[in-house]
Amino acid sequence: MKPINIGLMGVGTVGGGTATVLKRNAEEISRRAGREIRLFMAANRDLARAREVVGDGVPLVDDAFQVVNHPEVDIVVELIGGDTIAKELVLKAIDNGKHVVTANKKLLAMHGNEIFARAQEKGVMVAFEAAVAGGIPIIKALREGLSANRIEWLAGIINGTSNFILSEMREKGADFADVLKEAQRLGYAEADPTFDVEGHDAGHKLTIMAAIAFGIPMNFDNCYLEGISQLEGKDIQYAEELGYRVKLLGLTRRTDKGVELRVHPTLIPEDQLIANVNGVMNAVLVRGDAIGQALFNGPGAGALPTASAVVADIVDVARLLTSDPEHRVPHLAFQPDRLQNLPILPM
Ligand code: NDP
Ligand code: HSE
Repeated sequence: MKPINIGLMGVGTVGGGTATVLKRNAEEISRRAGREIRLFMAANRDLARAREVVGDGVPLVDDAFQVVNHPEVDIVVELIGGDTIAKELVLKAIDNGKHVVTANKKLLAMHGNEIFARAQEKGVMVAFEAAVAGGIPIIKALREGLSANRIEWLAGIINGTSNFILSEMREKGADFADVLKEAQRLGYAEADPTFDVEGHDAGHKLTIMAAIAFGIPMNFDNCYLEGISQLEGKDIQYAEELGYRVKLLGLTRRTDKGVELRVHPTLIPEDQLIANVNGVMNAVLVRGDAIGQALFNGPGAGALPTASAVVADIVDVARLLTSDPEHRVPHLAFQPDRLQNLPILPM
């Protein structure tokens, strides 16, 4: 049987992790998918660096449009980031009838309504588990595991870089700028780390989770954003003396008047589980009317944890491709024709 061909765009932190996991766990992944999954080609600006990661057998190009236009690529994996070239590539891939897997929360929070409408029109999947909370399967949890619930609210530590900075400042008295540099070195931070420390990245992820939890359009423009860049060591110490931890939280809840979306530093009593989520770990606390409260916890950034979510999406799409073509229906995690229009409350 013909293998399922993956076209990887961007061989940086997450793209490199994805190539590694695809290679390392090739046999198990292919067995689960029902067909061989093959890294067919990859694109990266720096070809020499990408070659070290993908090995000799995989064709490499520096023009990612060659990936989305290649007739033999079945699934395009976008790990370039940003919302300029990545948006063009994703829309082109969809127009070419290719399924897309992406970790790009900025792209989806800002242009998801357009992208998912196009995907629905063309009958392809856009899967994005890795876009929120790194390796934690929170998109699947909201979409599948909790689909019986009326979600009332959710609150989460959803930026690993900020949580790493706050944890190191509290535990070691470390300097903000030094820890940020370390987060960049470890591959946790965004290309522009102000997105991490000013709350934008958490806002992108919150927007995506709210859209799925409440069945509403992506509404990033109405999300209140306040990051951690104004916090000093003494703020964290005073909070601790009073029995609290400072965490950057993304919070969304449904009220009678509409939906709240906000990101800001929050004081959490130190005996709460979520107050003890440290380092690059993320956690999302969800309140549903049937389940009550459920906490999802795990690594929120980094090459292999994020690749875990990317490759899980590849397996999901591959399962669709191996199903009976006559009864094949792509399931979008975010379905533009099944949304409700709840107002977003001004903050
Ligand atoms: P990196 O900067 O490490 O990787 C991006 C890669 O894309 C680089 O290798 C870069 O090459 C390449 N690239 C950039 N522009 C082009 C282009 N036009 N054509 C081909 N290749 C290009 O980023 P990350 O891996 O950290 O992030 C990728 C995506 O994953 C982003 O959307 C990010 O938000 C998301 N993400 C990241 C996580 C993480 O922990 N890092 C976790 C979850 C999601 P070059 O270096 O040569 O410019
Ligand atoms: N920069 C992001 C973070 C990567 O620190 O959480 C994971 O989305």
